[in-house]
Amino acid sequence: DLGGHDTYMHKEITEQADAVDRVLRGRIDDRFATVHLGGLNLDPREARAVRRVKILGCGTSYHAGLIGAQMIEELARIPADAEPASEFRYRDPVVDPDTLYIAVSQSGETYDALAAVQELKRKGARVLGVINVVGSAIAREADGGVYVHAGPEVCVVSTKCFTNTVVSFGLLALHLGRTRDLSVKDGKRIIEGLRRLPGQIAEILEQEPQIEKLAKEFADARSMLFIGRVRGYPVALEASLKLKEVSYIHAEAYPASELKHGPLALIEPAMPTVAIVPDDDLLEKNRAALEEIKARSGRILAVAHQEQEKADRTIVVPKNEDELDPILMGIPLQLLAYHTALALGRDIDKPRNLAKSVTVE
Ligand code: F6R
Repeated sequence: DLGGHDTYMHKEITEQADAVDRVLRGRIDDRFATVHLGGLNLDPREARAVRRVKILGCGTSYHAGLIGAQMIEELARIPADAEPASEFRYRDPVVDPDTLYIAVSQSGETYDALAAVQELKRKGARVLGVINVVGSAIAREADGGVYVHAGPEVCVVSTKCFTNTVVSFGLLALHLGRTRDLSVKDGKRIIEGLRRLPGQIAEILEQEPQIEKLAKEFADARSMLFIGRVRGYPVALEASLKLKEVSYIHAEAYPASELKHGPLALIEPAMPTVAIVPDDDLLEKNRAALEEIKARSGRILAVAHQEQEKADRTIVVPKNEDELDPILMGIPLQLLAYHTALALGRDIDKPRNLAKSVTVE
């Protein structure tokens, strides 16, 4: 049921404030400044014994995992990283008993992720799932985990599930942080940030008419560059994937800090750049990157917490806590991808050559 929307992608993008509200519901514990995650199956002693976190997923779920890894490092101070599940599986990985493995999947049926989980379990590792579809193959295989409660996602391209997965990682990072060294004060700060998310998402969605105009402005591009750094880089990766999938415009994501090491050669008016520019301790560094692009006549669309002077256009998003900013910064770019695809007359809910759930290798 499209409920008045022209596509499921549009419907699912607009459902995100409610979806995030749902993933938070019943889980926040104000008294101890933490969250309860019923199905985690990881007691405090086990949580404290974790020496590393390795997150595995494919496509958009891998990108959500990249943000999740950063949140876990920042809030729980556990070394964490994310890797595409299929790469992990085929490089004969060292399976370490002190590492907590986390498989991320919307469908819970993605073959590469499932096979990685099975291999890990065979080697005695503890594997959690961050999954949308309840009772799916990966959910059944995992030792425990977090359901992301995004509701059914029909469009082949993932939007609301990405957002809810990243929020779920925020919850997990807070939970792990509070069983380790995250202070009550920081716990409260993150909880307040989480509670602000649904209202801030609604604010972003209200900007759709302006974003639609921007999409028409940039729809003539044959190729686009997406840049960000640290917290912003996985946002750039995901936004670039979204644009490619639905509009078929070639897009590439780079850490802004790598520009000088190669991609700057591509900059010209026909190659616009989308820059993720959060108002955090890297703001000045990001602004310097915009200047480099401008000096080479590149067109720039910034997603930022305030107007960017060097950008041709800025989408201003509400500021949250630094650690949670990545959750919000990708949302306007889902709308940009959607409206670009619409302007180009693409088959938005069923992009060519793609399937919703990839149950083969
Ligand atoms: C992108 C997209 C795919 C999936 C990937 C993993 O919009 O939908 O990249 O994210 O195929 O799927 P799940 O999360 O079901 O394991």
